[in-house]
Parts: sequence; C-alpha cells; structure tokens
Amino acid sequence: MKHLPTQNSAVAQILLAWYDQQGRSLPWRGLRNPYAIWLSEIILQQTRVEQGLPYWQRFLRELPTLDDLARAEPEVVKGLWSGLGYYRRADLLHRAAKHLVEHGWPSGYEMWRGVPGVGPYTAGALASILDGEPVPALDGNAYRVYARLSDWRSPIDSAASKAFIAEFAGARMPAQRPGDFNQAIMDLAQALCVPRKPRCPSCPISDFCLARQNGSAEGLPTKVRNPKVRAESWHFAVAHKDGQFGLVQRPASGIWSGLFAPVQLDSAPNGLEPEVVTHRLSHRALTLNMYRVSEGFADFTHWMTPEEWRSRGMPQAFVHWMTKFTYI
Ligand code: ADE
Repeated sequence: MKHLPTQNSAVAQILLAWYDQQGRSLPWRGLRNPYAIWLSEIILQQTRVEQGLPYWQRFLRELPTLDDLARAEPEVVKGLWSGLGYYRRADLLHRAAKHLVEHGWPSGYEMWRGVPGVGPYTAGALASILDGEPVPALDGNAYRVYARLSDWRSPIDSAASKAFIAEFAGARMPAQRPGDFNQAIMDLAQALCVPRKPRCPSCPISDFCLARQNGSAEGLPTKVRNPKVRAESWHFAVAHKDGQFGLVQRPASGIWSGLFAPVQLDSAPNGLEPEVVTHRLSHRALTLNMYRVSEGFADFTHWMTPEEWRSRGMPQAFVHWMTKFTYI
C-alpha cells in the first residue's frame, strides 16, 4: 500500500475543507435533532436527495416528533410515504419509531444496527453523524470512491472486496467530524467521483488517489458480470366495476410485497386473449399476460379507484397497463 499513515489525516483535512466550501447545503445537515436526521437517512436509503427532500419536509411537518410518528395510524404513515416506493420501508419506519420510543435513541454503530430498517450503511451514517463514532458509511457510491482511492481492481461485489474496502475506509476515518467526513464522501461521489468520466482535475484529494495516479479511475469499480437473466411468463387478472378496480394485496414477502396489484393466476385462463406487457427486473425478463375479467372471476379483495391504487402503491410493472385500462 502506497499510502503512509500520516497521509490519512491529510486526506481527511483536505476533504473536510472541501466539504465546508463545496458540500451540498441540505436542511438536515447541521441539525442535532436525532429524529430529523434518522428520518433523512431512512428516506435517502434508496432515494435520491432531490426526490427525498420534499418527503422529509412533509413528514416533519405532519409528524414533527418521534412520538407523533410512533402513534400515527399506519395509513397516515403509508400516505406520507406514498410515491417513494418500497412500501416495506414505510412499515419498517413505523416499527422503528415504536422501537425507538420504547428503547430510547441508540448510541453507536452496534446499537443502531438493532433498530428495524437500519442496515450497515445507515448505521454507519447515523453513528458517525449523531454519535461522532468514526465508522464509514458504505453504499455503492462510497465503494466507488474508496475503490478508486485504493485502486482496488477486483470486482467490488465480492465479500473479499467489501472486507477490503471496509478496512481501507475504516482506517481513513478521522476522529474529528466523522459524520461530515462520510457526508463529504457522499458529495464527492455525487459531484466529482461520478461513475463515468470522473472529474479528477477538480477533485480535492486526487493527489492521494491511486487510481488517478495509475490512470484506472474511470474503469473502477469493476463488477462481476450479471448472472443470466431469466425469462418468465406470468398471468394476471383485473376486474373493473363502477370506476373501481378489483385487486389484491401481494403477500408480505417476495416480489412486490405488500403492494396492491392484479390477481396472479396459476395459468392462462381458457378462452381469454391476454394483453401482453413486458417488464425488466434486474435478473428477470417478465412477460406479463394481462386479462380484463368480470368481478366474479377471482377473489378480488380490494376495490380501488385509480387515485387509490396510485396512492397506495401499485408495482411499476402494471401502472401503464392499468392506466390504459382506466380510460377504456
Ligand atoms: N444519502 C444518504 N444520506 C445522505 C446524507 N446525509 N447526505 C446526502 N446524501 C445522503
């Protein structure tokens, strides 16, 4: 390893100075309210900042304290979450609020990991921001920055690579301002250390970046090739009556868990012609055979207007077809 230990604090100092001048000014930064910060990290787990920000503001306006969230009706929480997708996260958020009311705010990475919905990345972010613990917050963006800093060329999605990056990043965490340091890494990843065509000449720590020295930054991190995409053909039925659509709630686990969706059939119904929709998931190429049926055809447990199924969460795969159905 080319880095000398003394360089680590230089990297941190330079990056923090850059963050103070060029970091994004986001409303949760600088707050000390654990509720507001925890909420921001949960919302931002799989959501971009620009998309998540208005949701964060709305949550805080409608449910300004942890107690308010813990005591809210599940429908209220789902309503505030609606549009962010991944509805399991709304459930987890609500469960976590009750957990936090019961057990109090955690302190440190290990305790944060015990809160529902808080995985390793979020625990790192929260422990560093709220508790000042020098632990990294490693998501895909941070992996990219650290893989470049260390010129790590093995596929990033292996356990060995993750272990290496965790150690490399852990050794670089400053004792002072670790939360700002992690957020500086996030901002660097977003503004300069971008996946394609990284802006190395503008990067404050390019002198410390081994990939930059070796000319390998753009190609990093490397990934193992996707496993084969499986083609699957599924059948779904929807009924329509007086402006309402017959749907069911998907099971709590598996694909589209908890969302409202057309009824899945075991096989193609006799004598009906499907309308065919295709949908790509990361490892599956779905052919969705859609049937418009009468109300007695299947056990439709929920009848909803388009406004209702839109706001309660319909898998993206069906939205276009359902919308077409609405107008015919
Ligand atoms: N994404 C997740 N947490 C974030 C934070 N604190 N600031 C900016 N982006 C984030």
